Amino acid sequence: MELADIKQIGVIGGGTMGFGIALNFALAGYPTVLNDISDEILELSMKNIRSALALFIEYEIINQKQSDDAVSRITTTADVNMVASNSDFITEAIFDRSKDKREMFNLLDKLSPPHTIIASNTSHLVLSDFGSDVKRQDKIVLTHYFAPPHIVPGVEVGKGPKTSDETFDIVYKLMKKTRRIPIRLQTEEPGYLINRLQTVLFKEAARLWAQGMASAEDIELGIISTFGFRMPHEGPFKHYDLAGIWKWPEDIRFPPPDPTNEIDKKISKHLKERKTWFVNPEKFDEAVEKRDREFIRRYKALYMSKED
Ligand SMILES: NC(=O)c1ccc[n+]([C@@H]2O[C@H](COP(=O)([O-])OP(=O)(O)OC[C@H]3O[C@@H](n4cnc5c(N)ncnc54)[C@H](O)[C@@H]3O)[C@@H](O)[C@H]2O)c1
Repeated sequence: MELADIKQIGVIGGGTMGFGIALNFALAGYPTVLNDISDEILELSMKNIRSALALFIEYEIINQKQSDDAVSRITTTADVNMVASNSDFITEAIFDRSKDKREMFNLLDKLSPPHTIIASNTSHLVLSDFGSDVKRQDKIVLTHYFAPPHIVPGVEVGKGPKTSDETFDIVYKLMKKTRRIPIRLQTEEPGYLINRLQTVLFKEAARLWAQGMASAEDIELGIISTFGFRMPHEGPFKHYDLAGIWKWPEDIRFPPPDPTNEIDKKISKHLKERKTWFVNPEKFDEAVEKRDREFIRRYKALYMSKED
């Protein structure tokens, strides 16, 4: 099977995520069937799709014809069989309850043609658990979008224990074709990659707020105006490189590694060798200037109005 064999998309669940995922596929040219438990919910999904398209038109991302074409590619049905029997790729975006996901995966496995790839948009459940009864173990996959999925570009693409490389590769290409940015996950853990990172930040922010260190407003402001400001350009690894932390004396570099822990040992080795992740140390000054130019452009756009 190849990417070109994916002609028809199915989306199960037309809520906050499902309508945007269906819209994303339709905008990329795919006939898409959207399913939910009632026609009333599906009417609301279509209303949300039209509102999202109106904003895209307003911001000149698309024109009226592209919007009309996208709408014409989406059909809705409360009959899951209609989706399962006709789709080459199905993603579910129903409630994040293991039991519900298991039932849905088993149903889709039973009703879909053997070649159909079945994906989940789960935020923290793992395929090795709720997908364990599915016969087509090689054709189940994670495609984890982020709200609002028709705008936020990143999508985690993850494997179950027996997902084939072929499936993974097709889905990776499918995400690219639909103008998303696929993030490949090599192992499976509850919360996968991005939500694990987000959760650490949220938990610590909530703890410091509850402890009274700062108000919620100041915590938000602090994040948005500091590392949040930098984030469109750099994540933690590129920041480590560009801030020159790799050049610091060993005893003040962070994170402080625990010498007895195998994972920490790996980090420790990297730090000890003064390795960078992204920036060539010989072109450090160049990289810093490039960063600064981007930061100044953003600073100007965000913090300096014409009146200033
Ligand atoms: N909301 C987010 O920010 C977000 C972000 C990433 C991933 N997710 C994940 O996406 C999934 C959906 O989340 P959501 O926020 O869109 O939820 P939601 O409650 O807005 O929508 C879920 C929809 O699924 C429908 N549904 C439930 N059972 C169904 C069934 N058996 N058949 C067909 N439709 C069914 C519901 O009627 C509802 O419309 C969850 O797994 C969630 O963890 C959510």
